[in-house]
Amino acid sequence: MPSGDVYDAIPKVELHCHVEGTVQPSTVVELARKNGRQLRSEDPTELYRYSSLNSFLEIFWLVQELLNDRDDWARAAYESIVDATPHGLRYREMFFTPARHLAAGQNLAEIVAGLSEGIERAEMETGARCALICDIDRAYGGAAGLELAERLADLRRAGLAERVIGLGMDSTERGIDPREFADAFRLGGSVGLRLTSHAGEDTGPDNIATALDTLGIERIDHGLAILEDEALTRRVAEERIPLNVCPNSNIVIANRYESLEQHPFRRMRQAGLLATLNTDDPAMTDLDLGKEYRTVARALGMAWSEIEEVALDGVEATWLDEGEKRSFRAQFERELAEIRPPDATAVV
Ligand code: ADE
Ligand code: ZN
Repeated sequence: MPSGDVYDAIPKVELHCHVEGTVQPSTVVELARKNGRQLRSEDPTELYRYSSLNSFLEIFWLVQELLNDRDDWARAAYESIVDATPHGLRYREMFFTPARHLAAGQNLAEIVAGLSEGIERAEMETGARCALICDIDRAYGGAAGLELAERLADLRRAGLAERVIGLGMDSTERGIDPREFADAFRLGGSVGLRLTSHAGEDTGPDNIATALDTLGIERIDHGLAILEDEALTRRVAEERIPLNVCPNSNIVIANRYESLEQHPFRRMRQAGLLATLNTDDPAMTDLDLGKEYRTVARALGMAWSEIEEVALDGVEATWLDEGEKRSFRAQFERELAEIRPPDATAVV
């Protein structure tokens, strides 16, 4: 068996993944041609090179702009799930960030309908399941965030956004005060959306604490800086607030560490934090879920038994109801027992 296969076989939940960042380079080229956009290069090794979060976001925004109509959104969502299931994806809560599209005149209902259509088709074909989280783009400011939350609330009331179970926030982090978005998150929470936010990816622990205290978030995306604040670490560990961490992304996109060996993921877990593993933008970083688990386990010396715990913690961190969590957990435990190597205390 090639060494990678057992990591692909681990059943996985993914809670931090942007649909736009899952569009494969070949699809990017096709969408650019379809939508009459000239790319600087059609070679992903040329196009996808980043020196900071903000330099990554410039390319991410370009890919976003290629999603022009309902069919493009449906294609992106469909391919995203079909691409991920061979690497163990069983359930995903996936971000989409429509600020740029709404500003360009697209309609939120059409975007959600396209995504939902693509997901349904992929679910039928693969057996994996997927819900959506609508992300506010911080770069557009608090008023745009509130307007997005209002449109989403309207759609939910009209029964047109059943797949959208959460409101989140991403994009550029430095120099932006999370408090600007408090009204948007208050509204999202009031219509039953679950709440999360990128925080502490490109900044220190204060941004994580402010997001928790002023936005009412129930999960933290990235949260890398948390170990710099002992009291905050203790609080987040005790309250079992999940941190959805993306180690490979943090090397390639945020350029926060030089190598995976320096990443705090294992230390976060050893500090008692409910830290899960995720790919963030896999098609833009030559990544997949199997590779995320494999490279992190080997770089950080995590034994197979620790990696099993990571997979099971993914289920706990979802926004599924308790019955669904129990059933996923039982399914994961059965599948993990089947692939467990003879010495689970070793790094595989
Ligand atoms: N949008 C897509 N990927 C992102 C990341 N890693 N951080 C912030 N916004 C993003
Ligand atoms: Zn992200």
